[in-house]
Amino acid sequence: MGHQVEVDQAFVQSPEHRPKPVISEAGSIPLIDLSPLFSDSTATAVQATLVQQVEAASRDWGFFQVINHGVPVELLKAAETAEREFFELSEEEKKKVRRDEVNPLGYYESEHTKNVRDWKEVFDMVVHEPGVVDVSELELKNKWPQVPLGFRETFEEYAKSVEKLAFRLLELIALSLNLPSQRLNVFFEEQTSFIRLNHYPPCPYPDLALGVGRHKDAGALTVLYQDSTGGLDVKRKSDGEWVRVKPIPNAFIINVGDIIQVWSNDKYLSAEHRVSVNTERDRFSIPFFFNPASNIDVRPLSELVDDRNPGKYKEYNWGEFFKRRMDSDFKKLEVENIQI
Ligand code: SIN
Ligand code: FE2
Repeated sequence: MGHQVEVDQAFVQSPEHRPKPVISEAGSIPLIDLSPLFSDSTATAVQATLVQQVEAASRDWGFFQVINHGVPVELLKAAETAEREFFELSEEEKKKVRRDEVNPLGYYESEHTKNVRDWKEVFDMVVHEPGVVDVSELELKNKWPQVPLGFRETFEEYAKSVEKLAFRLLELIALSLNLPSQRLNVFFEEQTSFIRLNHYPPCPYPDLALGVGRHKDAGALTVLYQDSTGGLDVKRKSDGEWVRVKPIPNAFIINVGDIIQVWSNDKYLSAEHRVSVNTERDRFSIPFFFNPASNIDVRPLSELVDDRNPGKYKEYNWGEFFKRRMDSDFKKLEVENIQI
């Protein structure tokens, strides 16, 4: 008699959302070399090509990878090491920085995406303190663990460097929409960006569960670092197929979120993605969610709408949306606690 894997139904995806055994890496997201951004002498033709590449990738995929992005490799290594060391801590140690009712930042076991539990554990931190959303009943202060040593310093430095990259990408996106390069920067003066650490442990039934269920990112841009394991799948717009993003050492994966979809009035679409897991290897990733200030009302940019191309979205307030999202995540967490 072979041994049987006990399946926890909370993690089981409905049949149509379960991953295929092999997801193709062929025909996956574009790769863009950002080195022209860092060279003073680069000809304007090279810069124009870069803007065109960003335009095509954002339009056709909503996703691309970047290399030569200006974030030092040592910082990527330090962040990945700190992340691994944190998740290797005992449950007791991790729970010292667990999220709670007043403060949703810190460590938690996993969340639900579309009502199915994700196969992962998480640590959330905001990029700018104090308070990303001015809601009196929520306290948004980072919960720094005492160990591993240097965790806070590493992620503060990482956040600064990745934020710089996010602004450069935002400027490229603006240019690619035929806007002045700084056109979108004003929305980010009091940004609500945050960093998430994801750990996906090996899973005994990767054909039934997902590390993160299918979803779109709600913010403006996501700048994601992933380790060498692989598992991020993107839904290809041209045919609706799921394709795997090939891990490239020291690269970042960039995706357009719902806010850029609205600003661009659907020129760029926020793409669906998910994370597959496997039986053998842990996977670690670090998304930086680049989000505008909470007082920003999101609507199609006036320059991109006219009589022939009217705005497709009603205005909404980012802070209110973000708070609702946080509250509903938290309610799900409470339900989850009862189940455990
Ligand atoms: C996510 O999209 O929420 C996570 C992406 C990843 O871990 O690769
Ligand atoms: Fe995502």
